[in-house]
Amino acid sequence: MKDFKFHAPAPVYFGREVVSKQADLIASYGKRAFIVTTKFEGRHLALEDVEQVLKDKGIAYEVFDETEENPSVECIVRITRKAKAFGPDFFLGVGGGSSMDAAKAASVLLQNDITEEEAAYDLFFKHPVTDAYRRPYPCRPVICVPTTAGSSSEITGFYVLTRKDTGSKDTPPMIVFAEAALLDPRYISGAPQLILDTGAMDALSHGIETYINVKSNFLNRQIAMIGFGLFRKFKDHLLSGELTDEDYDNIMLHSAVQGMAFYQAGTLLPHGLGYYLSHDKGLNHGLACSITQGEFLRSIQDQSIVAPILEACGFNNVDEFAEYVRAMTNRDVHMTVTEQEIDGWVEHFLTYQSRRLAIYPGHMDGEGLKKIFMGSLKAYLV
Ligand SMILES: [Fe+2]
Repeated sequence: MKDFKFHAPAPVYFGREVVSKQADLIASYGKRAFIVTTKFEGRHLALEDVEQVLKDKGIAYEVFDETEENPSVECIVRITRKAKAFGPDFFLGVGGGSSMDAAKAASVLLQNDITEEEAAYDLFFKHPVTDAYRRPYPCRPVICVPTTAGSSSEITGFYVLTRKDTGSKDTPPMIVFAEAALLDPRYISGAPQLILDTGAMDALSHGIETYINVKSNFLNRQIAMIGFGLFRKFKDHLLSGELTDEDYDNIMLHSAVQGMAFYQAGTLLPHGLGYYLSHDKGLNHGLACSITQGEFLRSIQDQSIVAPILEACGFNNVDEFAEYVRAMTNRDVHMTVTEQEIDGWVEHFLTYQSRRLAIYPGHMDGEGLKKIFMGSLKAYLV
C-alpha cells in the first residue's frame, strides 16, 4: 500500500435538534458570538435554533446576514470590520457553503487583525499553495451549522473566495477547520428541489472525482464508498422528489462523508470543466460540476477503477449512470452552448488548469476534454 496522510479533524455532531442538544458545547467557546449567514426566504430554522441557544446561555451575539454568494475578499473584510467592532470570542457560520466559508475566512482576518482589503489579499494569496502552507492557521473558533448538503465546508479546511484582482475563485492555503460541525437534517428538509439536487450532485461529484484522483489512498476511497452507499439509498427518491425523513438524514450525511473523502485528495476534471459553465453560463456549482460526470467516467481508460463506484451507487453500467445525471441536471439547466465556446474552454483549461491532467489516471488531452464536453452538453449545443 502506498504512503498517505489522512486529515479530518472537524468534530461532527449529527442528529435532529443537534444545536440545542449541543448548547453546552456552543457556550464553552465564550460569551460573545458573531453569526455569519444570509437572508432566507421563509423561516431560517437553523438561525432560530442558534439564537435560542445563545439567548438561553446568556451569550451576546450579532448577526451578519448579508453574506454574498461565492463571497469576495471585500465581503470578508466587511464582515471582519463588523466583527471587530463587536469583539466576538467565536464565530458561527450558519447556512450554505458561502456562509460557512465567510465565517472561516473572517475568523482568520480577525485573529490576525486584518481589516484592510490589500492586507487581506496579501494574507490569503501571497503564499504558494503547497502542502507546507496547507495547515491550520491562527483564527477564532468557528462552529458550522450547514443548511445545505453539498459544499462540505463544515468538514474540510477549505473556504473558497472570489478574487476581484484576478476575477477567479481561489482557496487560500490558510486552512480552517470547524471546532464543531452541527448537522441537523431538519435544516435541509424544507429546502427547494434545486438546492437539494445541486447539493447532492456536488457531494457525489466530490466523492467520484476524489476516488478516481491518483492522489487518493486506501482510506479515503473506502470513505467515499460509504458515501456512494448513502447516495444509492436516496437517489431514486431525489429524482422523483419523494423524499422521506430517512432520505434527508442520508443526504446530509452523504455530503459530510464525501467531504471527509475529498479533503484528502481534492477534485479532478469535472470541477475544472465546471468552472466555465459557472463563469460563462451562470450554472450553479453543483450543476456545473456534475453535468460532465457521465462522460468523465466513460473517459477513464482503466474501467476497473470506475466499476466499484457504479456498483456502490446502484448503477449497472456507465450508461445508466449518465442517464441519471442527465435526468437530474436537465430539469434545472437552461442554456445554449456552441462548439466554438467549448474550444475556448478547452484551450483555457490546458493553459490554466493543466495540473488537473496530472492527477488523472491515464492519458488526457485537449481532444479528450472536448469529447467530455461535447458528449455531456449535446442537448444544449446550437
Ligand atoms: Fe464542489
